Amino acid sequence: MHNMDRVKMLEFQQHGDERGHLVIAEGLQDVPFAISRVFYIYGSSHDVVRGKHANKKTEFVLINVAGASKVKVRDGKGNEAVFCLNRPHTGIYLPAMVWKEMYDFSEDSVLLVLASEHYDEEEYIRDYEEFAKAAGKW
Ligand code: TYD
Repeated sequence: MHNMDRVKMLEFQQHGDERGHLVIAEGLQDVPFAISRVFYIYGSSHDVVRGKHANKKTEFVLINVAGASKVKVRDGKGNEAVFCLNRPHTGIYLPAMVWKEMYDFSEDSVLLVLASEHYDEEEYIRDYEEFAKAAGKW
């Protein structure tokens, strides 16, 4: 399957009652990998573009637990897709070796990221041309 076809929106289980909402994302169950790392991004202004990289190994799930943002995904072979993240119980799954850009952050955006690997700068590709070249051989 092409990497682009593996990108998909995920719906998480919601447990809501009069006390509020609780959303569950369990590794290897709701999320298709074991979670090794969690980080979150907030305070990015509307005109900022984050990401702009691909990962050789790491898979991610991105969830706007508050506010909204957009994610553009490119496969380095001319295909791209844009996803809107604007619901706390919805995430996007990104396999390894896709180029991603996060942008259009709302002022209240809190973007939660679940990752399959610990941080290793060596597995980040931060140059698009280099990524496209590597993706061609993938
Ligand atoms: P960066 O990769 O530029 O963030 P984004 O994906 O939003 O574009 O990361 C910002 C800084 O944080 C950079 O110096 C690397 C560091 N960082 C870590 O140390 N560990 C991590 O898990 C992440 C995601 C980033």
